[in-house]
Amino acid sequence: MKTRAVLSLFILLSLLLTSCLKDNVEVRSILYTEDEYAAISAVLNLPNDRLSYEVKLPQHMKNLGMTAPVLSDAKATLGRVLFYDKQLSRNQAVSCASCHHQELAFSDNKRFSEGFNGELTLRNSLALGSVANFKSSYEGGSTFNGQQQFFFWDERAHSIQEQSALTLQDDIEMGMNLDELASRLSQHEYYRVLFRKAYGADVIHPAFITEALQEFINAIVSTSTRFDDGISAVNGDPFRNFPNFTQAENLGRNLFITHCSSCHGANMSISPEKVANNGLDEVYEDAGVGGITQQPSDLGKFKVPFLRNIALTAPYMHDGRFATLEEVVEHYNSGVKMHPNLDFRLRTEDGSAPRRLSLTEDEKEALVAFLNTLTDETLVTASRFSDPFR
Ligand code: HEC
Ligand code: HEC
Repeated sequence: MKTRAVLSLFILLSLLLTSCLKDNVEVRSILYTEDEYAAISAVLNLPNDRLSYEVKLPQHMKNLGMTAPVLSDAKATLGRVLFYDKQLSRNQAVSCASCHHQELAFSDNKRFSEGFNGELTLRNSLALGSVANFKSSYEGGSTFNGQQQFFFWDERAHSIQEQSALTLQDDIEMGMNLDELASRLSQHEYYRVLFRKAYGADVIHPAFITEALQEFINAIVSTSTRFDDGISAVNGDPFRNFPNFTQAENLGRNLFITHCSSCHGANMSISPEKVANNGLDEVYEDAGVGGITQQPSDLGKFKVPFLRNIALTAPYMHDGRFATLEEVVEHYNSGVKMHPNLDFRLRTEDGSAPRRLSLTEDEKEALVAFLNTLTDETLVTASRFSDPFR
């Protein structure tokens, strides 16, 4: 009896001791030597400790079989610095953040954005902070739950790494040569330190730059909205009334499920439809996916964008044609145009004409009220996603 008590006391003590040790190790896991940190601190406002970029998914997303991306904090930290650095553009005029502002859910408030030499982009800047879309694997493109994920309005990039390489070299956006960029960055001691921490090497390869950007963008995941609180309170069932919603918001949620969720998704986590023609024009100036695949059946099809933080990301659509959510709702209500590729869900039952929803004013307001519940204040204020430059 006595030996047993002593033994359990011993086990308890050793457990306590190891957990203390573990805590201590974590608290003391200082990333940089004094010299390294001095070089970093001269330019950047980063803690001399590991900043966690761990993505935690709420239960309602896990119920869908979603798993959080496993990220390297050192690479994400480097990616964050790169994201905010104007040296990434030819004449050092723009950074990624110039067109992707944190306070606007990493979009901007313009129809078209200004590139490094003042020329306008051909499309509206896309918001970042999606959940499924940004979980891209590093080899063989991006998959999410076995589904391929693509990037840009016409889905021409197969991973964020590829997207970043295209954006950096784009004649309008950043106009940079990747080898020149690598040598430009390697002139700075703080970058040599950050790349060493992330990749264990002093040589800066262009692929490290784009992969670190990808790691940072994968860390930007929206999970904290009033919608998430609501769906969590009803065991992840989007079809039930959310207790934290007003009557109008719940009406809007129901209308959204009926008219919108077959493309955009009822749980704001996965888009069931990747691309579609949503009837913006009878003749499209921008071919969209068709411009990439050269298939007539893809003309006027564009990425089905995720709608988290939609209240922050005006103007809307690939060309930013709608200034407000009211205009977007009116488009689906009465403005859908006929096009050979118009999605069947936006047509009358016999398929011969665009569908009219004939919503009442209250219903339109309710849809907008629902879209306003998708704003994630945590994401747009989190310091780990903010500009680290002094
Ligand atoms: C000059 C403005 C501008 C700059 C600079 C810029 N972007 Fe973008 N970004 C855009 C526009 C516009 C789009 C949509 C383009 C398209 O679809 O053809 C976009 C799309 C994206 C997408 C695709 C999102 C999706 O859902 O498919 C990602 C990711 C992205 N940008 C990340 C970055 C990163 C990383 C950088 C820096 C290396 C960067 N952007 C620099 C304007 C910009
Ligand atoms: C057939 C699929 C489909 C249906 C149904 C659908 N959408 Fe869309 N939605 C899209 C596509 C595709 C786009 C992008 C089109 C473009 O820019 O060319 C889009 C764009 C949007 C945008 C703009 C997003 C941005 O970032 O600019 C909003 C907001 C939106 N839809 C809301 C709704 C609402 C509300 C409904 C229901 C009334 C709805 N959608 C029904 C496919 C659909």
